[in-house]
Amino acid sequence: TYEKFWLAAAMALIVGFILTITYGTVGIGVAMVDDSGETINPENINDHPKFSSPGVEQVGENEYDVYIQVVQFAFLPTEVEVPANSTVNLHLTSRDVIHSYSVVGTNANTMVIPGEVAEVTVNVDEPKEYGVICTEYCGSGHHNMEGKLTVV
Ligand code: CUA
Repeated sequence: TYEKFWLAAAMALIVGFILTITYGTVGIGVAMVDDSGETINPENINDHPKFSSPGVEQVGENEYDVYIQVVQFAFLPTEVEVPANSTVNLHLTSRDVIHSYSVVGTNANTMVIPGEVAEVTVNVDEPKEYGVICTEYCGSGHHNMEGKLTVV
């Protein structure tokens, strides 16, 4: 009977782990995190068809492309607003040093490297305001890098 107890305890632990993992993706789910393979010259970002005017662009019924430039020490644009129940493709690049784009309280987090385009796809459901921070030390203003991802 002790065996049964420990078996039950082990099962409860496993279920607990699964719930924890699942909970982490509630509210904002990351469908895919990868590097698009696209390269970009940081000097010529403003010649890029999309990064030259960063922001939100609707590309499907419930799908949006978002282009964000990351610099010392800001996300441009600082605030991004997307509709609830949509798929959001974030495209990020840096104009100077390595930064990150990390949506607080979710697993949406990517390094943003000069010369490369980082892509993160997130599925947003309910209206909510998310903070965005940089988690790669990038200089004296690192701790002041703040952005916002608002689901409306
Ligand atoms: Cu940008 Cu730390």
